[in-house]
Amino acid sequence: MQDSNMNRTERFKLRIDTDRLMEKLNELAKYGARTDGGCNRLAFTSADGIGRNCVLSWMEELGLEVRIDGIGNVVALKPGQNTGPPVMIGSHIDTVATGGRYDGNLGVLAGLEVINSLNLAGITPYRPIAVAFFSNEEGCRVAPDMMGSLVYAGGLPLKDAQESITNDGKQVADELQRIGYLGDAPSPGEQPYAYIELHIEQGPILENEGYTIGAVTGVQGISWREISVEGEANHAGTCPMALRHDAGFVAGEITSFVRRLTKEIGGTQVGTVGSIQLKPNQINVIPHYGALTIDLRNTDEALLSKAENRLDEFLAQIAHSEGVKTHTRQIARFKPVDFNPQIVALVENIAVSLGNNVRRLPAGAGHDAQMLARICPSGMIFTPSARGISHNPSEHTTVEDIERGANVLLQVVLALSETKEIALSRN
Ligand code: HGY
Ligand code: MN
Ligand code: MN
Repeated sequence: MQDSNMNRTERFKLRIDTDRLMEKLNELAKYGARTDGGCNRLAFTSADGIGRNCVLSWMEELGLEVRIDGIGNVVALKPGQNTGPPVMIGSHIDTVATGGRYDGNLGVLAGLEVINSLNLAGITPYRPIAVAFFSNEEGCRVAPDMMGSLVYAGGLPLKDAQESITNDGKQVADELQRIGYLGDAPSPGEQPYAYIELHIEQGPILENEGYTIGAVTGVQGISWREISVEGEANHAGTCPMALRHDAGFVAGEITSFVRRLTKEIGGTQVGTVGSIQLKPNQINVIPHYGALTIDLRNTDEALLSKAENRLDEFLAQIAHSEGVKTHTRQIARFKPVDFNPQIVALVENIAVSLGNNVRRLPAGAGHDAQMLARICPSGMIFTPSARGISHNPSEHTTVEDIERGANVLLQVVLALSETKEIALSRN
């Protein structure tokens, strides 16, 4: 058994096996595979269950001690020379319905590749190392997003999450039971020593500016709302325009307002109306009902709140002018998060030492790391996304960039799990 305090020079020679990692990424992509090359592994579905089984089998092959909690979070542990809280590598393996094969999956499978590389090098690190995947990071079958990691971090009571109802009418606990992932590990989960997540950027910055690695500084704030509009159905031909209470018109006006609002707020403000449903949804009937979702994000909490307030003002104004009722349901709300500065610097320095072109940037998407940052020093490593595309079957990251990201992850985990070198300032 090689001394866990392998000297720095020897440690830096260690590299992941890229073919082994690519094989696993392509294997996992078969579960919930779409005909267009993408993935549909919505949280707690049968496809999610089969994908989980596949990853669990790889965890067991690596000799890891696997624990499953009451929301289906899976944590697999490689013991260290010492006991105590582990360095945790994590992400998610659920996808949106029209997802790619790298979002989330890369972070989990690169974590297993790190363990594999350490096992084959005969290294038992000073500190235990865990690889985790958290349930329902995407939140599109049942909100909120990052549900599993939020429960793990103590931000959402387990019972509330288990009793949530998916948008196809199933209770989360029943779905977990059905796919065999209603576990009994303690919830909230054990506080890791540190948390690190490798993830595709899902945006255009690294590729456009010629960087190979992103040292992620934090995650922007997120506000998810569902707006329902109650108007009055009437005949599309006979009802004079001045007498209409048209829920379809109001849904359209709200959608245009969200776009204008991003320009008004400026900075990093983004706004998306991802779904609109109208009833009765017939060509010659003025809709009496509309339901739309609004996703607002900003790196600045004050500006995100301002955007929410401006939206509320607009809703009151349009409800009055069109004579409809609107109702707002907040379905997720997370403040911006800053990652641990020492971990950000560690990612940056290691990435540079491995020959990468590195820049710091905030994460535009939500991530499990933003929940783990509530309970331990956390950070993220980004690899470029081809054409900045994600949440799309054509999501792609090159093998070379995957290799670079996984090697940075390996070295960051080695540095964090040899605790003598870093005394992390706790959150
Ligand atoms: O919504 C998000 O940003 C993440 O993909 N769940
Ligand atoms: Mn993700
Ligand atoms: Mn995603």
